[in-house]
Amino acid sequence: MKHALSIFGFTILVSAFYWYVSLWVPQKRTEPPEDIAISQDLTTDEMVAIGEEIVAGKGTCLTCHTMGDHSTTLRFPDLDNIGAVAATRVEGQDDVAYLAESMYDPNAYVVPGFVAGMPLVARPPIALTDDEILTVIAYLQSLGGTPTVTMATTLEGQGQSVAAEQAAPVAAGGNRDAETLFTTYLCNTCHSLDGSPLAGPSLQGVGGRLSQAEIYESILDPDATIAEGFAAATGTMGTLLNAVGFSEQVSAQELQSLVEYLSGL
Ligand code: HEC
Ligand code: HEC
Repeated sequence: MKHALSIFGFTILVSAFYWYVSLWVPQKRTEPPEDIAISQDLTTDEMVAIGEEIVAGKGTCLTCHTMGDHSTTLRFPDLDNIGAVAATRVEGQDDVAYLAESMYDPNAYVVPGFVAGMPLVARPPIALTDDEILTVIAYLQSLGGTPTVTMATTLEGQGQSVAAEQAAPVAAGGNRDAETLFTTYLCNTCHSLDGSPLAGPSLQGVGGRLSQAEIYESILDPDATIAEGFAAATGTMGTLLNAVGFSEQVSAQELQSLVEYLSGL
């Protein structure tokens, strides 16, 4: 009888969970940002305007970066003066070369006082094209500096972009394995598995710290409980996962395998 009751209880828990997921999925549905047409004869001023839109939209940059907030608890560099700072970061690199590297090869140089965690924005799921990156650089230069790039500027790293269609994530209902999900949805840019600090807590041993239910919750509703020491990053995980379409694209089965994988760590 006791056994039957516990199976009954478990069934209720599982159904309650799927009910919760089904509520959550449509609620958080966001429209993918519309592609902005980029012609090759844009003026630099027009590039700045388009770059600004991309930074706030498709680029997801503002889910992590602030503009004009220099509080010391930030986990991501503030960008409001990046046009002036960029030329001073790495000896021998001018502002354009530095900004290109920060997008095509972000871990080549990690800003002092911060930890790695800048995603490869030229790769899916963010998948900025080379032309889009040029406009973003024009906009970043305009923040405290003078934009000099044109659509004809060539950058170190150009040609590495992989269009979203070429490496499109499998649509909802798919059955990708947990490790694929962990990199596809950028979990690995914020979470290490070996204890080293990134923008989010290391998930080494997370299965010993959190129950499976707590892991589900921390993925579906990251701000319900904030991991100790990460108050300054409140909101970044949920906003970024939303921006890259996690809730629309990941099936219940995939989510479950991700939770089981983390739980086993
Ligand atoms: C997931 C969070 C995240 C997102 C999204 C993100 N970045 Fe970053 N970014 C970081 C982190 C962390 C650093 C600091 C580590 C480093 O230098 O690589 C950084 C560093 C930078 C720097 C160097 C800043 C400096 O002061 O030298 C630039 C420039 C930058 N990001 C631009 C962007 C742009 C443009 C986008 C959007 C296309 C973007 N980032 C999206 C996390 C993020
Ligand atoms: C933009 C950075 C970022 C991304 C991307 C991200 N996370 Fe997080 N995550 C955080 C931060 C910051 C926290 C701590 C704050 C909080 O609890 O909300 C966190 C908390 C967690 C926790 C709770 C950890 C603990 O010790 O309490 C889990 C589990 C987790 N994330 C899993 C994931 C998974 C799985 C993905 C990918 C599907 C992911 N995260 C993507 C930043 C991120």
